[in-house]
Amino acid sequence: MKLYVVLLLLGLLWSVVSAAAGAAPASTRRDDVGKLINATMFNEMIKYQKDPQCPSQGFYSHKAFVAAARSFAKAGFGTTGKLATRKRELLAFLAQTSHQTTGGWLTAPDGPNAWGYCHMRETTQNSYCKKSDPKWPCVPGQKYYGRGPMQLQYNYNYGQAGKALGLDLLKNPDLVATDAT
Ligand SMILES: *[C@@H]1O[C@H](CO)[C@@H](O)[C@H](O)[C@H]1NC(C)=O
Repeated sequence: MKLYVVLLLLGLLWSVVSAAAGAAPASTRRDDVGKLINATMFNEMIKYQKDPQCPSQGFYSHKAFVAAARSFAKAGFGTTGKLATRKRELLAFLAQTSHQTTGGWLTAPDGPNAWGYCHMRETTQNSYCKKSDPKWPCVPGQKYYGRGPMQLQYNYNYGQAGKALGLDLLKNPDLVATDAT
């Protein structure tokens, strides 16, 4: 099953990279993540996120993806290296996050991998609090189960992600599942 997923993702990657080979030369603009992965491609790759079976219902929009990606443009996300490398990086991110949030099943329409970005919150909502990590203390009443495209888990990951984003995610972990940007 895992090999099957990897092969399908590699196939997807290959078709996009080879389709791009004949396209325009590498752009040097640093803000064009939204062009490398345009809205049409984005919505095709996650076409079932508005299916009645998916809780996300459009939460993960192309607009939010681009805004979030651009806020890490200076850190190099999708902005450094050759055009093919940048596309691979963005597609690897989309493949991984689609896998984390999938609502697919073996016999799902268009296959199990067409159902990415279906969930914002993990189904089993455990606390995921590692108390032995005093640098990122759990806030009483808050739980750190998987949320958002990466299905961020555990206090120490919420703490560090919050630091990178300038948000107190230990206090407000649900921001990850309520603000897609
Ligand atoms: C989106 O990108 C694809 C692949 O590069 C391209 O074929 C398509 O025309 C683009 N769509 C828009 C609306 O720019």
